[in-house]
Amino acid sequence: MKTIVILISGRGSNMEAILRARLPVRVACVISNEPDAKGLATANAQGVATVVVPHRGFRDRAEFDAALAAAIDVHQPDLIVLAGFMRILSDGFIARYQGRLMNIHPSLLPSFPGLHTHRHALAAGVRIHGCTVHFVTSAVDRGPIIAQAAVPVVAGESEEALSARVLREEHRIYPQAIRWFCEGRLTLSPDGAVTVHGARAGENALRSPVVE
Ligand code: GRF
Repeated sequence: MKTIVILISGRGSNMEAILRARLPVRVACVISNEPDAKGLATANAQGVATVVVPHRGFRDRAEFDAALAAAIDVHQPDLIVLAGFMRILSDGFIARYQGRLMNIHPSLLPSFPGLHTHRHALAAGVRIHGCTVHFVTSAVDRGPIIAQAAVPVVAGESEEALSARVLREEHRIYPQAIRWFCEGRLTLSPDGAVTVHGARAGENALRSPVVE
């Protein structure tokens, strides 16, 4: 069975969705850079070990990343899952876990990298928005795409309403992508293309079925 470590900074709803999915994986630990992250209590309540590596305690990014890597490596994970982890990671850190570092981003990348994606999507007037699971590379929010889910944008809706509908899809595709990884069904080719072996056509491109 594969071992994963989940990194969070706050609410932890994606982490919770991953835990609830009862994947055939061992979740060795949840690590947060924020001592007050709500997700820590959720993980503890589910019997998952938690560790805090507070970034404010370090002189610079390199020192923090080294401490973070040490906390991760204790568990020898096959996969490191970024689930709302709000720190930019150094190139050295990313290279260390190349092909084993996954992230979820609340937009249909490459559209709307960075923060406030729902606000930007509404301002741009796009009709389709969504979320993306991708491998992490040193180009922030630009790594090889594993799965995406699309949601229609409803005329006049608020940022919060759109965000909630996208989040629901995040909770669907992130556990699925992790399952594929842990079943050995993902291949990352040198040109940065991801293949999902044994997936039905379009299975890694989901559409939100309804707008309530
Ligand atoms: C999610 O929208 C995720 O896509 C983004 O940060 C948010 C984290 O939410 N990277 P949560 O902590 O998983 O609830």
